[in-house]
Amino acid sequence: MRTQIAIIGSGPAGLLLGQLLTNAGIDNIILERTTKEHVLSRIRAGVLEEGTAAMLDTTGAGGRMHSESLPHDGFDITFDGRRHRVDLFELTGKRVIIYGQTELTHDLMDKREASEALSVYEAANVQPHDFESGRPHVTYEKDGKVHRIDCDFIAGCDGYHGISRKAVPEKAIETFERAYPFGWLGIIADVPPVGDELVYANHPRGFALCSMRTPTRSRYYVQVPADEKIENWSDERFWDEIRRRLPEGTAEAMITGPSVEKSIAPIRSFVAEPLRFGRLFLAGDAGHIVPPTGAKGLNLAASDVNYLFDAFHEFYLENSSDGIEAYSQKALARVWKAERFSWWMTTTLHRFPDQGTFGQKIQHAELDYLFQSRAALTMLAENYVGLPY
Ligand code: APR
Ligand code: PHB
Repeated sequence: MRTQIAIIGSGPAGLLLGQLLTNAGIDNIILERTTKEHVLSRIRAGVLEEGTAAMLDTTGAGGRMHSESLPHDGFDITFDGRRHRVDLFELTGKRVIIYGQTELTHDLMDKREASEALSVYEAANVQPHDFESGRPHVTYEKDGKVHRIDCDFIAGCDGYHGISRKAVPEKAIETFERAYPFGWLGIIADVPPVGDELVYANHPRGFALCSMRTPTRSRYYVQVPADEKIENWSDERFWDEIRRRLPEGTAEAMITGPSVEKSIAPIRSFVAEPLRFGRLFLAGDAGHIVPPTGAKGLNLAASDVNYLFDAFHEFYLENSSDGIEAYSQKALARVWKAERFSWWMTTTLHRFPDQGTFGQKIQHAELDYLFQSRAALTMLAENYVGLPY
């Protein structure tokens, strides 16, 4: 079998890229190791930058987003028992869109199915080959047979644990990483959110976040030790803990209920450089990971795909390799700014075991300054809504 672009991974990055390519008449095949149901079962973030929403619209899969998403003009940060609003729209003229990644993934899967582009699910042992040569190809196993797909390019959209980055020779890649000494314990409950917008809490007991998926489905998180076990957390313990980390009025307004999902996610910063190896490209979590504090993971996948699609489009339709040559540097420039912002928001809002009293004073001064300086608040706002592509 032959295609122009072999895409590994059917998450947001792979599906966004696949639909843009299909719409442009560039042939592509998506190889996904799990089932469609498994991909859709994963609980992920839910804050879209306007650029991400625009890309979903460009694919033609944005209809449900417009009818079901929640546009947010700002969010709150609480500390010292006080609640402060970050007015994103007033500071930047932009807003964010609350729309679950699962919904975005579902919309793109439906669009791909309708466009009859080929996706192979339950493709086992996917392996990229000869991507440093002019004859790249991908192999995979299914129904007891080994299949080969010859292609012009391979897009590694297979996430942090994927095969693409691992297929790159060690000497050809450099990684940069920071592991944080805590995780996020998250729950989803079918109860109305505590407010109309998100609330990020800095508290001596640890970070907390009040988010949402719809007006009747809430998403909450509390910071827990990195080695915490989910079995130590009953729903009751979770609700008690998150309310202790919020100002009194916010805690009293919280409607609790049984969790429909509860899990602990590790928190890390990670970047691989470069993002291109001959005819293999990394996009999304395959190339970088951010702490979820700044809600950048999905949005960085979208900006990588924006650059990568433009590069492929230019190659095939304008016979130019400029975009391909520039992809890694262009994508990493935006990735590193989002890594910095996510690191800054994480260090400003979380409790670090080794922080000490000096560290706590510095963190408090950072938050105090933030709400005394329009310049500081604008830095936060313009990074949160997303820097230009
Ligand atoms: N072969 C084929 N598919 C694979 C392989 C493999 N060896 N390894 C992983 N995959 C698939 C995964 O099953 C998953 O469906 O690649 C897909 C990668 O999707 P994501 O991990 O969602 O990564 P990405 O598309 O870059 O989206 C980034 O997803 O994980 C969140 O927080 C992250 O919001 C961010 C977004
Ligand atoms: C979420 O709704 O899952 C969410 C929102 C904002 C974040 C992280 C996660 O910063």
